[in-house]
Amino acid sequence: MQPLPSLKIGQHIARYPIIQGGMGIRISGAKLAVAVANAGGVGVISAVGLGLNSPYFDITQRDVGKRREQFFEANRLALIDEIRAARALSPNGILGINAMVVAQDYETLVRTAAEEGINLIISGAGLPLPLPEYTAAYPEVALVPIVSSTRAARIICRKWERLYGRLPDAFVVENPNSAGGHLGAKPEELGDRALDAEQVIPELVAYLQEGFSQSIPVIAAGGVWDRSDIAQMLALGASGVQIGTRFITTDECDADSRYKEFHLHAKPEDVVIISSPVGMPGRALRNAFVEKAIANSPDLEKRCLASCLHVCKCRDEQKTYCIVQVLDKAARGDVENGLVFSGSNAGRAQKILPVAELMAELVT
Ligand SMILES: Cc1cc2nc3c(=O)[nH]c(=O)nc-3n(C[C@H](O)[C@H](O)[C@H](O)COP(=O)(O)O)c2cc1C
Repeated sequence: MQPLPSLKIGQHIARYPIIQGGMGIRISGAKLAVAVANAGGVGVISAVGLGLNSPYFDITQRDVGKRREQFFEANRLALIDEIRAARALSPNGILGINAMVVAQDYETLVRTAAEEGINLIISGAGLPLPLPEYTAAYPEVALVPIVSSTRAARIICRKWERLYGRLPDAFVVENPNSAGGHLGAKPEELGDRALDAEQVIPELVAYLQEGFSQSIPVIAAGGVWDRSDIAQMLALGASGVQIGTRFITTDECDADSRYKEFHLHAKPEDVVIISSPVGMPGRALRNAFVEKAIANSPDLEKRCLASCLHVCKCRDEQKTYCIVQVLDKAARGDVENGLVFSGSNAGRAQKILPVAELMAELVT
């Protein structure tokens, strides 16, 4: 096999074309991001809901308005801590954050990350149309939208060029048929082969090459597990890959060890699609919580924690569940009553291993 090329995104060059996908809440924090960055990849801290399980937030606060205000401030302070901790341990590594457009504190989080010297902002769960405005004072910060189609990429390119005179530094193309977490497709579209990397990557690469003089790398996400998957994505025209699920079964993954063990022992048939309060489907592992969510059980926790999303069926319609609370629960080890996101590759991990070992396997 050909040696892997490096990956240039904006002004930043990673030794290997491997981005560790941002995984919330606190599945990919500073520890995982540092390990990946120090092994030559791009390490990504998920910025979502970091305040929840931090010293800055008092979950017992009963006044809803105060709780909300405190939650957003806690998210900001906890993100600063996480970025500083990561930078201290990886002074020269390429570090990014993942921020969700649908979060109410999206603007604050991306502004904070730019101020704190993050190298990249990767952003999905909505089109990151105003992102260049929020980071205008920090042109060295590379901006990377996540899309699932060429159509979405075209909208972003046109808007950014017209309003801000700049283009994305790269695109992550996430395949909703295989990726973990929230998926950029309607439930009835899942399974449609037109969403697969084989269709979307060559089409988007051609659009970007034909339409723009500057090079805009395309990163393939969803279902990438081993070196041959990476080779396959590069052969389609991608400049790199973003990997999520495989990094969960590592020593450095920031989740509780019970979360990693749950992933380790999962089987392919445990992977299910559930509806999320943000109105997007999500891919997750079957457990007691998921059974209840699919059955729309009255036992689901519907108390809205902090009105933290722009779109939230839990807050607005008292339907589904409070997503930050169930993601946090799982990350802290309650893998039966929390939400354990996973890509379609669940069941392939053989052991929990150090990131350096995994990276060596992926790049050798
Ligand atoms: C546990 C988990 C949490 C995730 N959280 C986020 C997130 O907060 N924001 C986001 O953009 N993507 C999120 N993702 C998607 C990953 O960043 C990545 O793109 C995706 O998992 C790639 O597919 P793979 O898991 O098959 O490698 C999550 C994925 C997993 C498995």
